[in-house]
Amino acid sequence: MPAPFTIRPATLADMPGVGAMQHACWMKAYPGILDDAFLAQLSPEGIAGYHARHFDENGNHAAPGMPFFVAETPGRANPIVGMVRGGPTRAKSAAGDTVPPEIVSRFPFELFGIHVAHNLHRSGIGRALFKSYANAAVELGHRSLVLWVLSNNAPAIGFYESLGGKPVGNSPLTLGAKAYPQTAYAWTSLAHLRRMT
Ligand SMILES: CC(C)(COP(=O)(O)OP(=O)(O)OC[C@H]1O[C@@H](n2cnc3c(N)ncnc32)[C@H](O)[C@@H]1OP(=O)(O)O)[C@@H](O)C(=O)NCCC(=O)NCCS
Repeated sequence: MPAPFTIRPATLADMPGVGAMQHACWMKAYPGILDDAFLAQLSPEGIAGYHARHFDENGNHAAPGMPFFVAETPGRANPIVGMVRGGPTRAKSAAGDTVPPEIVSRFPFELFGIHVAHNLHRSGIGRALFKSYANAAVELGHRSLVLWVLSNNAPAIGFYESLGGKPVGNSPLTLGAKAYPQTAYAWTSLAHLRRMT
């Protein structure tokens, strides 16, 4: 029986827990998908610091129209068991890779990242986070959604396809010294995501 969890907007105080959860998740999920050298230079603190940039000095999420949710299970050493974050569709990656312009114009709202504590995969946490994100997108006036996934990340692709996502394009992502193939998955309607249990 999976541990109960709740989903709520992220706060600045959550970022160390998000960094620890996401780092541990990547160390389990991404060997063989991303180069070992790239993974080796990641740290929980670095990931936490990256996300913390999106909060203001009062600890509030600073960017309007950019939902950021965490899944939480109180009582665990790290109660943060998942996260999802996104916003207006990015025209370029952090490394400057240009996204196909037709993807940006067709799908103006993006999910940037979704991660679940590795030992809790297949407990429904990812689906619940995705539903919260779809609800937030609709409340912001969006009717579609796009995200990018590494093309050889078969588990994540299985997850997105189970939620009705369809491949709509390809574009490389530069991480460290290497460009990795990525696939865009999109949803042209969010209605079924909001209804799912
Ligand atoms: C992708 C991820 C967020 C999914 O979260 P999750 O909590 O494990 O997913 P859920 O338990 O909600 O799964 C919902 C459904 O998605 C599908 N699914 C999930 N993981 C899958 C997998 N590994 N292979 C195939 N289908 C999968 C299943 O249909 C599943 O329903 P079921 O368990 O009843 O069969 C999680 O695996 C993760 O954090 N992966 C590592 C980081 C990552 O790759 N993030 C995505 C970056 S683009």
